[in-house]
Amino acid sequence: MNIERIETIDSTNEELIRRGREGAMPQVLIAKEQTAGRGRLGRTWVSKKGDGLYMSILVRPDIPLEKAPLLSLIMGLAAHDAVKEATGIDTRLKWPNDLVIDGKKVAGILAASEIEGSSLKFIVIGIGINMFQELFPEEISATATSLRLNGAKFNREDLENSIVKSFNRYYDIFIREESFRAFTEEYNSLTVNVGRRVRVIEPGNEYEADSMGVNEDGELLVRLDNGETKTIRSGEVSVRGVYGYV
Ligand code: BTN
Repeated sequence: MNIERIETIDSTNEELIRRGREGAMPQVLIAKEQTAGRGRLGRTWVSKKGDGLYMSILVRPDIPLEKAPLLSLIMGLAAHDAVKEATGIDTRLKWPNDLVIDGKKVAGILAASEIEGSSLKFIVIGIGINMFQELFPEEISATATSLRLNGAKFNREDLENSIVKSFNRYYDIFIREESFRAFTEEYNSLTVNVGRRVRVIEPGNEYEADSMGVNEDGELLVRLDNGETKTIRSGEVSVRGVYGYV
């Protein structure tokens, strides 16, 4: 897959969505800076020059629409492996789309699917990793961290190449198996959400439950206080620890 590196762009995700609509082939875009970086749930992703890694991957998988969100989980696994390879830091995953170090967020993933009729045309998976920040804005300083703040010394290009390499490895298995089954065990062993009391925040609905981990479809299973098990799909949902971010 071709990797293109540029200085500045509004958002690598938005750029690959534009290219995807024009029929572009699978590719990787990495920017040093984003002027309108996007986060989940309509938030912005502060993307100052040099501080972070801002990367998006465009793919055109021939998979059922409902499987598209699994590519965010796959990017999480790939980024975990790549960060470990390039920096030695063993991050944890926070379902559905964050990487954390000691309970603080070090990376976020945002995917956007483009649909035609009832089939998936393409999907763009973006990842932002806090690499060199030493200070964060007040609003996120209690919950955000960077690789540098954790003592990592690494080469940024090695990290970028490593993410692409591991994403491709997981992606090939996923496409071959058409399922997340092969990754469930690994995902659950890495995720901070397993076996915890969590607060599930859905649009117009908030409740506490005990998190049990992800199932073979990459959905989070939680046990409600009335004993019922509920399946949560990613999307407009946020899952936090009852005492804070994890
Ligand atoms: C989150 O809210 O946690 C997701 C953040 C995703 C940020 C990345 S940076 C590269 C890509 N381009 C964007 O505009 N957003 C994603």
